[in-house]
Parts: sequence; C-alpha cells; structure tokens
Amino acid sequence: MTALDQLPAWKALKTHHASLADRHLRSLCIEDPGRGERWWGRVGALRVDYAKHRATEETFALLFALATEVGLPEQIARLFAGERINTTEQRAVLHMALRGDARSVFRVDGEDVMPAILATRARMRAVCEQIRAGNWLGAAGEAVTDVVNIGIGGSDLGPYMVCEALAPYAAGGPRVHFVSNIDGAQISRVLGPLDPRRTLFIVNSKTFGTLETKVNAHTAKAWLLQTGLSEDAVMARHFLAVSSNAAAAAAFGVLEAHRFPIWDWVGGRYSLWSATGLAIAIAVGMDAFESLLAGARTMDTHFRDTPLPENLPVRLGLLGVWYADFFGAGNQAVLPYDDRLRSLPAYLQQADMESNGKRVTRDGAVVSWPTGPIVWGAPGTNGQHAFFQLMHQGTHLIPADFIGCVRPHHAHAEHHRALIGNLLAQSEALMRGRTEAETRVALEARGLDAARVAALTPHNIFPGNQPSTTILLDALTPDALGALIALYEQRIFTQGAIWGINSFDQWGVELGKLMAQTVIEELAQGQVGAGHDPWSAALLAACLNGGA
Ligand code: F6P
Repeated sequence: MTALDQLPAWKALKTHHASLADRHLRSLCIEDPGRGERWWGRVGALRVDYAKHRATEETFALLFALATEVGLPEQIARLFAGERINTTEQRAVLHMALRGDARSVFRVDGEDVMPAILATRARMRAVCEQIRAGNWLGAAGEAVTDVVNIGIGGSDLGPYMVCEALAPYAAGGPRVHFVSNIDGAQISRVLGPLDPRRTLFIVNSKTFGTLETKVNAHTAKAWLLQTGLSEDAVMARHFLAVSSNAAAAAAFGVLEAHRFPIWDWVGGRYSLWSATGLAIAIAVGMDAFESLLAGARTMDTHFRDTPLPENLPVRLGLLGVWYADFFGAGNQAVLPYDDRLRSLPAYLQQADMESNGKRVTRDGAVVSWPTGPIVWGAPGTNGQHAFFQLMHQGTHLIPADFIGCVRPHHAHAEHHRALIGNLLAQSEALMRGRTEAETRVALEARGLDAARVAALTPHNIFPGNQPSTTILLDALTPDALGALIALYEQRIFTQGAIWGINSFDQWGVELGKLMAQTVIEELAQGQVGAGHDPWSAALLAACLNGGA
C-alpha cells in the first residue's frame, strides 16, 4: 500500500500549502467574502461554521481528493457494517449501534446486536424509574438519595461531562457523584457528606480489572459495611455494575439482576451511550437519555449518508489533518462558551488523544507524518483571562473550536449577551488580529505621546491569522449535546482513517500500568527493587524514607 505521504493528493497538498502558508485570513476573507454564506452546515440542532480557516476551495478539493485516495467513504462503510476495524484487538467498532433505535440494523459477524442493546436499555429504564421515584430502597429500608459512579477514563469522563451539561434536566432525580481517581482524597471528599444507608454505587468498568476502580469499589464496600449491615444485604441493595466482565462483577458480589452488559465492540471512550451512561440516565431520566442518543443518531446518519463535501465531521476532520500535517500545528483548542460544557475539553482529550495518539499505521509501520493533536481547552470566558494571551500574541498556531449555545437555560439575559458577544469577538479577533498601523491609531487615540506610542506598538500588535470553527447549538438540550459529541467522535474517526492508524486500541496506556504494579509492591515491601534506573530508584528511595 502506498504510504500516505506518497499519495498524489498529499504531494499536491504540500505544494498548495507552500502557496497558502503565508496568506492571512484577512486577505482570504477579502478575496472570498461570500465564504461565510457557504462554509457552514447544519445537522439537527447544531450549526457548524468553518469559514475562518486558512484554506480555500482548492484546499478542500485537494483534501477531498486525499480522502478519496485513502478510501474514506469505504472506511466509513466498513465502520457501519460492523467489520473488525480495530485490528489489533480483532474487534468491531459499533458505538453507533448503542444510539440506534428499533429500526436500526447493526450486525457483528452477521448477528444483529440491536435486540441486546434495546433489552439493556429497557432494564436501564426500569432501574432509573425505580431510583428516580424514590422506590429503590437501601438495605436498611431507606430510599436512595445519592448515586456514586465509580469508574475512570471512558467509564467516568463521558457520564461526568454529560451529567454536568444536562444538569437543568436533573430535577426530581437523586444526586449523582463521581469517583475516579486512585487518590483516596477524592473518595473521602465524595463520601464524606453522604449517608451510606441512602447511597447506591455503580461500579462502572468495561474490564472490571482497572486498578483505580477496583480499589475504590472495595473502599465503597467497606464504607457501607461500617453501618453494621451484612455484606449480602449491602451487595443486594447498594451496588450496580456495568461491565463486559460479568464473572468479575459477580465475584465482587454484584447480583445478576443488577449487572449491565457492555460489549467488546464498544470502546471505553465511546461508551457513554451504553449502560456506562447509567449515571446520566439516573440523573436526568431515561427520556432525556434517549434524546441524547437520538441527537447522536442524527449525526451518525449524516456522517454515513452525506457526500464528503457536505459532511460536517469529514470537513472538520480534514481541517484537522490540514493543520496537523501541513502547518505542523500539533494542537487543537476546545473552547466551550457554556459553563455546563466545562468538562468537554477533558472528555475530548481522552476521546481524541487515546484514539489518535498513535505512531504506527494499522499494519505496524512507523508513520512519517504527524497524527493526533494535543487537545486542550477551558470554558470561555475564563480562558480569556488565562491562556488567550498566548493565542493572540504567542508563537504557536492554535486551531480552535468555539462552542456556544444560542439560547441559555437561565434567565440572565445580560450574562448571556456578554458570553456570546465574547465568543464571537474572540474568534474575530484571533482571525483578524491588529496591524501595526491599526495599533498606532489605537494607541494615539488613547492620547499617548509619540515616544510612548512607538515603545508600545510592538507589544500591542496582534498577528491574528489564528483559525477557528464555531459550533452553535440552538440550546444545550440532550439531543443537541448528543449530536455535538457524535460530531467529535466521527471527526476523530475521519482523522484516524486518513492517517491510516487504528483509532480504537490504546496500547500506550499499558507500560505505565505495568511498571506501577512493581513500584506499588516495592512501596508495600519498603524496598527499592533492582530493576530501576538510578534516577527513578533515587525518587523511590526518597518516598520510602518518609520525606521528600
Ligand atoms: O487505561 C485506559 C483505559 O483502558 C481506557 O481506555 C478506559 O476507558 C479506562 O481505562 C477504564 O477502563 P475500564 O472501563 O475497563 O475500567
């Protein structure tokens, strides 16, 4: 197979980049002012505007040619057909089935996976309704008021982010909490104010073998047993489990009726749509959870059925390739101008970086082109008072996603005007910048003398030319959020497909886990083992000596 960087479209993009690299977004805008009317699209409750990019129609024509040369349409078809595209783990990738409905058809090896998904969803509904109606009683006969999700990575970040985002829909439900970290400070803080008799845990782990989750689950069990209730009683009323490892969940003591399956064709970071999202369903109710699924389904259908030029995840994915591989940007900022999306950057860090942080192609050859970017970000307007300085006047190219909601969920119109005003102004300021001449005029207008104007001018020039996408949701409703998350998932797929990597394994997390096991044992035994390099041994000795 021809290497990506040897394909004709790649070479043409290289040449094209050389002619475009020095062009400023301002001049692109003057040259093609009508782009704002063309370079946007709408799917469900999302409007995606990609006008402010360092690209032209020719750029996109070449990017679409590249997509065609790597067989992106065929790769999308194979994804939806349930082929085992996660080749290193020999698994299909079918999180789209999790948001399917009764009419959807998804098969793995000829077997229709929808009946099991719909049956699990019905069980989720029954449990949610019981809990939300106050009919789920703890072992001491008291109604559950608090639900704690114990899980990490994909078994935490998605449910956590969505629960925050959909908080306005949570009225009438129990309080939902999250414990992920191995750091005992977190579980102490979360359990501190809770009443064990009224607390229900969800042990959320695809493998049921993750260290953090195992340790936290045992701590939770011990905390419940302090009430004097028997282990059988505690296990019967205070634990649910979500896992593909039913045997391990059973060994921990979770009753069969309280165990929810996920399947090997669901990647952890793509699993919030399954019973992994039980905490979401409990927090906001099963109807809202199903709206979330429906929003994602709309985006899936768009992604599967829309030709490349109108396909929004494809457009955004190709722009990501353009910046990563031709401009060498190496990063992607996610800037939600909505406090309820404050955990979206952290969620997308796992979704994107665990998926596309790969250095070899699907057949194991080391790539000679950059792959997944460093994803980072924080909510606006907070970020403006922190890292925006670097975006405006630093030395890095930073493609950014501005995400906002046209209608808020609160009644503070003045706040919302200022919020959206800032979002729009920042994307414009980053694009346009401020020239030397404009800067001088601005400083003179402040009444400064000539010497001061001359001294301050270089510090007040804004190079601009920072590209951005603006994603506007009509409002942060469950279906809009579902579409937004699926937009990112399919954009990640698009980029992995272009780069020729496997976006669905995560071998890179294993080495550290393995080495930690050894160090943890050595800490328990109080001695530094022989296998360490001297620098690491010195640090371990310092910890063993009881003082840093
Ligand atoms: O260590 C990484 C990882 O395997 C993620 O891919 C996964 O989402 C997380 O750990 C948690 O895994 P599990 O759900 O099996 O506990």
